Parts: sequence; structure tokens; C-alpha cells
Amino acid sequence: MSDMDIELIKAQIDSDIQNINSAKDLEEFRVKYLGRKGIIAQLTSSIPTLPLQERSSFGQQVNALKNKILSLIDEKQKAINTKTPESKGISCDIGMPGIAQELGHLHPVTQIIDEVCAIFNRMGFSVVEGPEIETEYNNFTGLNIPLEHPSRDVFDTFYLKRKDKLLLRSHTSPVQIRVMKSRKPPLAVVVPGRVYRPDAVDASHSFMFHQIEGFMVDRDIKFSDLKGMLEIFAKGVFGKDIKMRFRPHFFPFTEPSAEVDISCIICKGKGCSVCGRKGWLEILGSGMIHPNVFKHVGYNPKIYTGFAFGMGIERIAMLKYGINDIRLFFENDLRFLKQF
Ligand code: DAH
Repeated sequence: MSDMDIELIKAQIDSDIQNINSAKDLEEFRVKYLGRKGIIAQLTSSIPTLPLQERSSFGQQVNALKNKILSLIDEKQKAINTKTPESKGISCDIGMPGIAQELGHLHPVTQIIDEVCAIFNRMGFSVVEGPEIETEYNNFTGLNIPLEHPSRDVFDTFYLKRKDKLLLRSHTSPVQIRVMKSRKPPLAVVVPGRVYRPDAVDASHSFMFHQIEGFMVDRDIKFSDLKGMLEIFAKGVFGKDIKMRFRPHFFPFTEPSAEVDISCIICKGKGCSVCGRKGWLEILGSGMIHPNVFKHVGYNPKIYTGFAFGMGIERIAMLKYGINDIRLFFENDLRFLKQF
């Protein structure tokens, strides 16, 4: 090895570095010059074969050469990093299908809540939510439900601490008491939310389900207002061809009270297995707010009247979509949920 060789190698390095376009090329370059059997290693191993007086200056030249290569590699590395994947030597097939982003959607129960609230919104109702842990007073007493009423039984209500008189609300009606105690009429409110009952779970029962409560209070609210608005609701959800009927019923918090049926959406009222050959399907309970409820919240029943109604959301969804088992809503089976 001689000075001449070193000059040749330098020229070679300068030409090699020009042709490097990828990380792969750069690695080949590094191995060629700095690898274990690379050119620098060969030069270094030749030092002991040189005459004594040449060794030191040759060694210095080899060292300088090595440093030059290291800084060239460094520069080239930076240049490659700022390039596109293709120029880095990474193959990228732009014709390949992308990774599809699956778009989720709202749960069917949420969809029905939104749909029902939107219908009542258009009629001037606002949406209010209440807590799932309620007082015995709001859940029962304020709603004119007497102490001996069976729904107050421990078999029908989840009590928390008996001494605090707290429970998991068994319906959304207690929000009537909360809203009326904090506001003055006129008011029109819908209340969606979860309710709890210690029922054994089967195809039509769940210990937790959803309800929407609605109520309107002002001077001169009439039963006909209730009828008109529920008709708009029922036709909005089930289609304009359905018929409705009001069946007298009893609820402690309304007087008079009625259960509301729609003509069976399967048989159109002729009678089938879904409607139990009756031609009608019950969808909600309703009535004119009882004067005792007004007394509890401090409204004068001689001045104000109002109506209230309450419906089970899962029931509405089951009727609308022909679902025969309430458990499907809560099992999180995507094969079911993806259908909505
Ligand atoms: N709270 C009743 C229930 O859970 C439903 C209900 C019936 C609500 C009649 C009302 C009503 O506001 O007027 O079974």
C-alpha cells in the first residue's frame, strides 16, 4: 500500500458516494470501506508490513480517510432520511387496498331515544335528564303512590340504603317532581333514561331498561292536547298509517289515566301472534297529572293542568324492528347491533 493507493481510494470513494440513493446502497458502501474485511481494515492491517519510518504518516492518512468516510456516511444518511419511501429503497405499492376504517353507529336504543326526543323537540319539548339514584319521595310519594302500593315492595324496587331512603329509580316519572319543583309552568319536557327493577331476566324482562317520560303543564292543558301530541309521536315512529286507541287504565300519578295502543304493525289490526290476536299493541301509559302531584310540587291545581306519559324504549324498538328478545339489546353481539 502506498500514498498512490490512498489517492486512488479517495477517488473511488468520491465516485461511489455519488451513486448512493438508498439506505441499502449506503449500507453496502459502509461495509465496503468500514466492514471487518473492508478497505480501511485492509489498509490498517498492512501498516506492520511498511518500513518503520513510513508507518506513522501512513497510519495518519488511513485515519483521516476513515474519518472522511464516516462523515460522508453521516451526511448521506441525513439526505436519505428526508426522502420519500420509494427513494429510501422501501417498496410501496400504491395500488394496494387501504386499511378500511369501520364506521360505528349509535346503539338502537340510543337511536330510538334520539328519534322520539326529536319528534317532541319539534313540538316544543325540551330534554331533561335525572339521576338514576333517586329518593323514595321522588320515585313514589311525590307521585301520589301510596305506602301500601305493591311497586314499593322490595321485590319491585332496588333499595340502596333503607335509612337514607334512596333507591334505583324504577321509572323516569320522578323527574316530573324534580323539574316541577325547580321550575314554574308553562313547561314541556321529555326525560330519557335508564330505570331498574328486580325482575328475573327473560325475553321480555330486564333488571335495567330505558324509558322516556314526557309531560306538559300550563293553564288549560287538555286531554285532547295529549291525544294530538301522542298521535304525532306514534305516526312519526311507526308510520302514518297506524291507528291509535286510548284504553282507560289506572296510574296513581294521573287522573284520568289511559294506556295507549297502536294498531298491530305486523297484521295491521287483523290479529296475529305478535299482538296476541288482538290487533293492538300497547305502547305507553299516560293521563292528566293528578292534583295531588301538583300539591306535592307546590303548583295550584285550580290554576294548572297538565298531561304526562311514559314509555319503555326497548319495547318501542322491539315493536318497530320486530325484535323478539330484550336481552339482545344488552349482550353487545355485533351481529345484532350492526343491523341498525
Ligand atoms: N311510570 C309508569 C311506569 O313506569 C309509566 C307512566 C304511566 C308514566 C303513565 C306516566 C304516566 O307519566 O302518565 O310504568
